[in-house]
Amino acid sequence: MANLAPLDEEITLAQLDLDPYPIYRRLRAEAPVVRVRAAGRTLLTKATDTKYVKDQPGIFSSDDPNTPMKRAFGAHTLMRKDGAAHLRERNAMAPAFNPKVITNDWMPRYEAIARDYVSRLPKGEVIDLFPALSGPYAARGLAIMLGMDEASDDEMQRWSQALIDGAGNFGWQDAPFARSDAANAEMNALLDSLQARHRAEPNNSALAVMINADDPIEESQIYANIKIAIGGGINEPRDALNTVVYGLLTNPDQLNEVRRHDDWDKAFEEAVRWVAPIQASSRLVTEDTEIRGYLIPKGDTVMTIQASANRDEELFENGEVFDVYRAKAPHQAFGNGPHFCMGTHVARRAVGKVMLPILFERFPNMQLPDPAKVLWRGFGFRGPITLPVLLQ
Ligand code: HEM
Repeated sequence: MANLAPLDEEITLAQLDLDPYPIYRRLRAEAPVVRVRAAGRTLLTKATDTKYVKDQPGIFSSDDPNTPMKRAFGAHTLMRKDGAAHLRERNAMAPAFNPKVITNDWMPRYEAIARDYVSRLPKGEVIDLFPALSGPYAARGLAIMLGMDEASDDEMQRWSQALIDGAGNFGWQDAPFARSDAANAEMNALLDSLQARHRAEPNNSALAVMINADDPIEESQIYANIKIAIGGGINEPRDALNTVVYGLLTNPDQLNEVRRHDDWDKAFEEAVRWVAPIQASSRLVTEDTEIRGYLIPKGDTVMTIQASANRDEELFENGEVFDVYRAKAPHQAFGNGPHFCMGTHVARRAVGKVMLPILFERFPNMQLPDPAKVLWRGFGFRGPITLPVLLQ
């Protein structure tokens, strides 16, 4: 019988929140499979292992009843289902993410929003790009493609944060659930009020395609999955935009090359490799199994650390460095397997193709006056929490 993976009792959640990368680098070298007491989970930090786990949903289930996510969403979303039940709900929403629909319906809207929001930014001042642009841009685009244009940017961001905080409320405190309950009530009321419009005028938004399907899924699941898109579709494009702007402004040579060759999409891809907006995912182990010779017992929860996989020395030379022109290798920022991110193409295009060229055209000499003022946070989700830039 194989041994359990080594137990680490030193790593704290606070360290992982502040800067997990030196820890992951050490773990990849010394203990790529490790039980971290503070996280209550087995962490996997090598790219082969994180991909393997996500590609084996029969052994590593997404349906983990031990997380507060169900409580926060008041529902069992598609993200926490397996097999046919998962596919049925994923397929229900898929027409809104079809590449043609993205090109014809969503990108013209994203472009109009990008121009509008960038044109409102003041010239010659230092402003925090996070609240002034990245957050609202991600919120507005998502509201439109989900079919809830009536929600304000502030509401979308507040609901998203309430769902995330609730889903991450592993201490089962009352206050985060009170906030997610209030957000759910507001979202439900809005979704109820939107049904008549979408029935009268069918369109390609996620809400409309699910409501108007020939064989629709249950209304409760339509709402639950709209909410998973709200909880999982704002902060990642926002953090990716902040990260890529930081990466380019701190590497002016690369910015010049990117500008010259119109390589904004490459810059986006490198940014999400470098600092994955979703750093870690959990899977519940359904049968005794082994990884790297260690016993992973049934009932254990493993965490795939895609943040670490994306810097794995076996795939990436100098992975700690932002380098748009590095040798190409597959990163895992959008996950793997049946739960691969539904918003991949939307996010790539909304940030890489649309926003970056518009932003750098309007402010060709944008600068980071003090890179040390850019604070990075996050263990589950990660990105700059402030991005003060001089717009010029
Ligand atoms: C840079 C931007 C984004 C990144 C890095 C990202 C990353 C991810 C990752 C890693 C997963 C898989 C989680 C897991 O395996 O447990 C995921 C799932 C998902 N993402 Fe994204 N995401 C981004 C943008 C978006 C956007 C814009 C939307 C919606 C418009 C979206 C909708 C979803 C949905 C619905 C799922 C669940 C899919 C399923 O369970 O089958 N994402 N995302």
